[in-house]
Amino acid sequence: MSQYVPGLQGVPATRSNISDLDGQRGILTYRGYRIVDLAEHSTFEETTLLLLDGELPSPATLEVFDRQLRENRRMKYNVRELMKCLPATAHPMEMLQTATSSLAMFYPGNECLTGSDVCEDLNYIHNMTVRIIGRMPTLVTMWQHLRQGDDPVEPRKDLSYAENFLYMFTGEEPDPVFAEILDTCLVLHAEHTINASTFASLVAGSTLASPYLVIAAAIGTLSGPLHGGANERVVEMLREIGRPEAVKGWLDEQLASKGKIWGFGHREYKVKDPRATILQKLLTRLMEYMGHDSPLYATAVALEEAANERLAEKGVYPNVDYYSGILYSEMGIPLDQFTSIFAVARTAGWIAHWREQLSDNRIFRPTQEYTGRPEREYVPLSER
Ligand code: COA
Repeated sequence: MSQYVPGLQGVPATRSNISDLDGQRGILTYRGYRIVDLAEHSTFEETTLLLLDGELPSPATLEVFDRQLRENRRMKYNVRELMKCLPATAHPMEMLQTATSSLAMFYPGNECLTGSDVCEDLNYIHNMTVRIIGRMPTLVTMWQHLRQGDDPVEPRKDLSYAENFLYMFTGEEPDPVFAEILDTCLVLHAEHTINASTFASLVAGSTLASPYLVIAAAIGTLSGPLHGGANERVVEMLREIGRPEAVKGWLDEQLASKGKIWGFGHREYKVKDPRATILQKLLTRLMEYMGHDSPLYATAVALEEAANERLAEKGVYPNVDYYSGILYSEMGIPLDQFTSIFAVARTAGWIAHWREQLSDNRIFRPTQEYTGRPEREYVPLSER
């Protein structure tokens, strides 16, 4: 029972009925629905409700939820003032963690998370849910403008979640095809079983911490290059390689020096991540729509082919981060904002897990295998 497993590989950390994946067959489901079907037919708003409530919503339920999200887009002026004090060089994920934490003070409310181990105030939980999910795109896009010394673009209530996200990024009327593609990206990134950041949200949630700080803990965990930060590294790597003809030599060197191929490999998937396949299709659709090819994409395809010959035997294939960064680049989104988009989408999954944790809570408190010195006598400073 108390055997140490590095990285907790294969160790169940919780019981959950939110999402599931079959890493041998490359199948991901949210509440039993395949990700390919949700990507094709659902929207981020609907998928979020599915993750939160367990069922596809009726039109009326979806309409109410959507309206509540739209009403929770605006940010208090003081949040903007706080952001203005942050260094313009701050990484968007650093800003996002700070700003999300600040919402605990600007929009307080952890009144039902004191005392009892289980929170039964469903109204409170719902209010916190829409407050947070509604505001995440506003935080991300406010920073995009403030760090350049410009005023943020005010959110609009007449646009869908993805449309408004794009609108606030650019200040321009959102292109319907871009908005549809971004919406699908949000669906794809919304949830993914007990990964590192979701585990962080469970641990923080289990202490009955404020939900804003639960999400802040998850944002910090997502930021690392071994997790959500990999999408940035992928684009940097492809830029460094430069062109498809350079792939083979680069790969030989990288593997000889035991370097990583960013956007490859996954603890759970031993085949190509189904989200990578969908993202690749979205990217080709976007290029067709825009009427040009992407040099990054050509290099990525050549690298995937070459890497498959070398890494397939280890079950290392493209993951969700491999094509998403190229897609966002083509949409004109700055490289350092890729992981923030991931965080906006994944907030839906984090909150679904926070709610599940609260419904049957026990504080996380694992044990350890102690490898330090045995008990010994204290030696006074003068005798050392
Ligand atoms: N490039 C090259 N080799 C890789 C690799 C990659 N991206 N990912 C895994 N491998 C190799 C490892 O070197 C190891 O080989 P070995 O058995 O000869 O030592 C084997 O595959 C198993 O990898 P391991 O690091 O033990 O897997 P893990 O489950 O601990 O790590 C990741 C999973 C995601 C952290 C890892 O694949 C990785 O670092 N990928 C790159 C970062 C990334 O894209 N992260 C986003 C994940 S969605």
